[in-house]
Amino acid sequence: MAELLERAGRPTPIRPDPRETLEPLLDDLLRSLGFEKALVLIFDEARSALVGSFGIGVADAAVREVAVPLTNADDPIVAVLRNGFPQRVPDARVDERLDRSVRDLFATLGLGPFVVAPLRSTAGRPVSGDGKHAPSPGWETRGEWAGVVLLSRASGVTQADVEALVPFGRRAGETLNRQRDVELLRETSEAHAIEKEWLWWMVNGLGDAVLLTDSNNDIILENRRAELLFRASDEDSAGKRRAVWMNNFLFTASLSSWNLERGSATTAREVTLVDPVEGTELIYEVITTPATNYRVGMRGTVSVLKNVTDIRHIGEEIVRGQERLQSAEEEIRIERDRLDLVLRNVPNPIIVVDIDNQIISMNPSAHRLFKADVPTARANQHALANDARFTSFLAQLRLDPLLAKRGEIALTDPKTDERLEMEVSATEIRDSRGAVIAIVSVMQDVGRLRELERRRLEQVLFDSEKLAATGRLAASIAHEINNPLEAVQNALYLLERFVGTTVAGQEYLEIATRETQRMSRILRQMLGFYRQTEALAETDLNGLVQEAESLVVKRLRERGVQIAEELEPGLPKVNASADQLKQVLLNLLLNAADSMPAGGTITVSTQTGAGAETEIVGREAVQLQVRDTGQGIPDDMLGQIFEPFFSTKPGKGTGLGLWVSQGIVQNHGGTMRVRSRMGRGTTFTITLPVKGPSDARAG
Ligand SMILES: Nc1ncnc2c1ncn2[C@@H]1O[C@H](COP(=O)(O)OP(=O)(O)OP(=O)(O)O)[C@@H](O)[C@H]1O
Ligand SMILES: [Mg+2]
Repeated sequence: MAELLERAGRPTPIRPDPRETLEPLLDDLLRSLGFEKALVLIFDEARSALVGSFGIGVADAAVREVAVPLTNADDPIVAVLRNGFPQRVPDARVDERLDRSVRDLFATLGLGPFVVAPLRSTAGRPVSGDGKHAPSPGWETRGEWAGVVLLSRASGVTQADVEALVPFGRRAGETLNRQRDVELLRETSEAHAIEKEWLWWMVNGLGDAVLLTDSNNDIILENRRAELLFRASDEDSAGKRRAVWMNNFLFTASLSSWNLERGSATTAREVTLVDPVEGTELIYEVITTPATNYRVGMRGTVSVLKNVTDIRHIGEEIVRGQERLQSAEEEIRIERDRLDLVLRNVPNPIIVVDIDNQIISMNPSAHRLFKADVPTARANQHALANDARFTSFLAQLRLDPLLAKRGEIALTDPKTDERLEMEVSATEIRDSRGAVIAIVSVMQDVGRLRELERRRLEQVLFDSEKLAATGRLAASIAHEINNPLEAVQNALYLLERFVGTTVAGQEYLEIATRETQRMSRILRQMLGFYRQTEALAETDLNGLVQEAESLVVKRLRERGVQIAEELEPGLPKVNASADQLKQVLLNLLLNAADSMPAGGTITVSTQTGAGAETEIVGREAVQLQVRDTGQGIPDDMLGQIFEPFFSTKPGKGTGLGLWVSQGIVQNHGGTMRVRSRMGRGTTFTITLPVKGPSDARAG
């Protein structure tokens, strides 16, 4: 049985199922020609295999057992398959042309006499839409099938039966073909639908909007992303509809302006659209490709819209960042230039060194000291010596971190050979981790400052010496005049008594008496100041203030002037002449009262401490202040009030009060200062060293 074709294990299903098509036909045939049983066998020609069988009036299970050996050329079934002519088998059970197994099987199926007619599916030729045949390579590879139908009648079959089958065979073929065409069409459109679905996924799977536009730039097709931008329905908000309308307008306008007809190559351009949901601006890069539909001969354009909004914004941000950076750099440059300018013009030498004491930078003032601007041997020598001294100064600082970063070094000006006493302030510059990376040293020529200070002190000394000399001169004159003046006064006194008070010209006598009294007052002032005998003693300044006040308080009260005290309790006693200081106090109190013709307040205060008085720096001192609320002293007069005989009180003042007072204070080693504001009042401040004058000037 080796030659017998086995039933194919897994038959290729034939579509459409021939059974569905043939069964109604066979039913008709059986009925009209009086057959009882029918058996249809279908072969796959390409594979030479039996691929299907079914029967009418025979048990299905047995039908499935049927196997026909195609190699047996005598077999009438095979012959029908080969030549396509119907055949008659008078009785299958005894027909030697059939294989034994076939005979046996047919016997069990009850297939005795039968006729065999061919069934054939012609090659599939799909019919295209326009009705023309178009070659379709896909179909040619499909297995074609051929089959036979066996029709059996127990009472026997005749040649007439064979002939009656011819039209049936044709009809069956046509039916099968028609069925096949319909099926092909269905399969074709199904394949199209599947492909279309895949295309849908392909196009919509893209993150970019894809559009197909016609030659008028109207949108024909679009993917879902594009729909979001270009399509709106009546249910959408007015805003969205407007945005979509804008987008359509903008896109069409862009396409038109790009004049895509001319260049056929793919081009990339940009279009700005509106986000229909957010209302924000979106920037798209548009890649266009011309497309032609050859089927209908239509031209169009495929546009892919890539959203580059973020990229553009990032780009813009980068540009802005760069601009900011540039302007920051510019600012830094300006700042550096300004700093440079400042350093260049600062008269103090400034030097920056690294941790190895190597000079990193210096300003011109420093350059002059350390690099010898004039290239003489001597200047170079000085510059080198300066450098060595400065380096050893820095090294010393480094060795002892506790040492103040300030010190003095003696340098020589390479240009002038001048000796310079430099005070150096060194400041460490640290990095973010606290490590010292540089030291900035600023130098100050203190020698010059000291010289200036010395000269000022000399001037002060000279002035006071001059004052003292003038004073001594005045005192000796006063002394010389005092005795004759007293004689004149006595004579006037006696004369007045002698001539009586009624004599003519007696008013001249009075004038002489008054004026000599005035002269004697002046002399007393002078002599009081220069009394050589005056000894210094521990003096309670607060007590002295109260004593002086008591002498004038009554008189001042009558003039509407009050005295207030702000005396510091426990004020240290001062080594001084009490009488002389009392005279000073009285002078100040009377001056204050004179400045307040309409009344006011005089405040007298005492306190410890010297303030910043150069003359008594570093020594224990007390301060006495007399403050009034009077008319004040004009600024241009402040320089004159301490001069002898300066007075604004004609016929009343001698103009010696302040001159004498200042002399007394200076003889005590102290200072006297005035501050005044017009219309507000005047304050005299006296500062006295507690220990008295440091030299013998108070003699
Ligand atoms: N507290 C004060 N307020 C306003 N002016 C003052 C005050 N003290 C002094 N002066 C001015 O300084 C001048 C000089 O004062 P000084 O005490 O030396 O002389 P005098 O008061 O004019 O005369 P004398 O003191 O000899 O009577 C005064 O004439 C006055 O113009
Ligand atoms: Mg006075």
